Amino acid sequence: MSRPWAITTPIYYVNGLPHIGHTYSTVVADTMARYHRMAGEDVYFQTGMDEHGEKAETAAAENGETPEAYTTRIARTWQTTWDKLGISYDRFIRTTEPDHKIAVQRLAQAQWDAGQIEFREYEGLYCVGCERFLTERDMEDGLCKDHETAPDPRREANYFFKMSEHFAWLADLLEKQPDFIQPARYRNEVLAMIREGSGLDDLCISRPKERLSWGIELPFDPDYVCYVWFDALINYMTGCGYPDQPGWEERWQACEHLIGKDILKPHGVYWPTILHGAGLPLPKALHVHGHWQIADRKVSKSLGNLIDPLRIAERYGFETFRYFMLREMSFGLDGSFSEAVMVERVNAHLSNALGNLLSRTLNMTERYCEGVVPEPGEMGEPEAAVRTAAATAAAEVDRHVRAYESSQALEALFRLVDATNKYVDLREPWKAVKDPERAEEVRTTLYTCCQALRSIALLLAPFVPDAAATMLERLGIAGLAEQARLPADAAAWDTLEAGTATTKGDALFPRLELVADE
Ligand code: MSP
Repeated sequence: MSRPWAITTPIYYVNGLPHIGHTYSTVVADTMARYHRMAGEDVYFQTGMDEHGEKAETAAAENGETPEAYTTRIARTWQTTWDKLGISYDRFIRTTEPDHKIAVQRLAQAQWDAGQIEFREYEGLYCVGCERFLTERDMEDGLCKDHETAPDPRREANYFFKMSEHFAWLADLLEKQPDFIQPARYRNEVLAMIREGSGLDDLCISRPKERLSWGIELPFDPDYVCYVWFDALINYMTGCGYPDQPGWEERWQACEHLIGKDILKPHGVYWPTILHGAGLPLPKALHVHGHWQIADRKVSKSLGNLIDPLRIAERYGFETFRYFMLREMSFGLDGSFSEAVMVERVNAHLSNALGNLLSRTLNMTERYCEGVVPEPGEMGEPEAAVRTAAATAAAEVDRHVRAYESSQALEALFRLVDATNKYVDLREPWKAVKDPERAEEVRTTLYTCCQALRSIALLLAPFVPDAAATMLERLGIAGLAEQARLPADAAAWDTLEAGTATTKGDALFPRLELVADE
């Protein structure tokens, strides 16, 4: 059996539609999932919808629909979007599904049985946008920092998970397992959140049905439903098969969560302590990315500056957008999105550097070698350098992808593209071909280029799968991405068979033009 490896995106709220932020999380997870599959691991990739809570109930009412009809309609829109964009998820989970209800109730019961839950009166400031009570640190001038809206003062009797009893344990865990939350700055943020005096306390995990009926009923009190974050976080375990699927623990403990920094507190504090309180094992790690900003503001529905992935895909093609997001954002930090910068980067990297290498290699192969991979002669120093560059790129891509550093991985990959372009410029096959005595050199040069393009296409496959598949097809090795093992196969050399037919084809990445907004 191959090694299990699992990745989750956050489950998205049903009261909005996918924008660049959600698309980024989903694309990073998709890229990771594709890479780990190509590395021969037993991958499980989950995304989905967070369908309960006040936000969903209110949005349904505003649309004149029942919550069931509304959430089903919106969930379908999201799933269709990911399908159109070719996201390779294994499960699209909805928190309204029956197996999730079982998981939530089982976990809540485990906490109850372990004496972790208490009934209390509570008064606080609630932000419906965040779906949680705010602490002072979450606010500025009386407004929620994330939503820029005034929270609602609330007083009600509720069930509380004695979360604060687990802070010392969590701090200790983060000391012993510093990689549990990555990059390190977010681990440090979590440590600051649970420090004494930081204002974080026990966690309210219920809502009285008289206020909110759209949720999963608490197994120990039918007058209450689960607080939406408690319900939502458990989706990750439902997907791994908790509580009843045999062997769920194995997948669960290989599970990595990918989230944006806006939801660090629920994932970095609530989630590990909830699991610990219920006596359950933890997932493997939490990977936290920064936010896309437009004109230096966070992109979000409440701030009203959305970027619709389908619209971008229509204008520029999805793979170019995907490439730009993965290359431009330094994982963990914020990134700035602009169509103009995207067009510039895509033209420089994909159309010029990579597109050129592919088209001139295949053009010359057609013209000088009858459109087949030529039989190479002896390899010289420059050929050996390209071969070394391919092995280096394969190792570096592997290291960076495993650390979620897609930007550095792509930089490493493009060093191979650049090295190969330089190599062609050095060998100048268009000149060599004029001298019959250099015929072998021409064949060796084009063989080396085809071989390097094979490595490039394999390494590119998790990032821009369709373009990589086209490259392999044109090199006469269609479908290789499905059989190859990364990183080894991208470093392997002399694997192309002389005589294999190649195809020139159109420009793989036609130059983009900036489309003006209407
Ligand atoms: N439903 C909760 C998550 C529950 S997970 C158990 C939620 N949903 S959300 O629809 O608001 O999605 C939030 C996620 O979308 C962020 O964590 C992040 O992954 C992504 N992004 C939303 N805006 C973003 C940016 N501007 N930039 C990058 N990603 C951000 O929170």
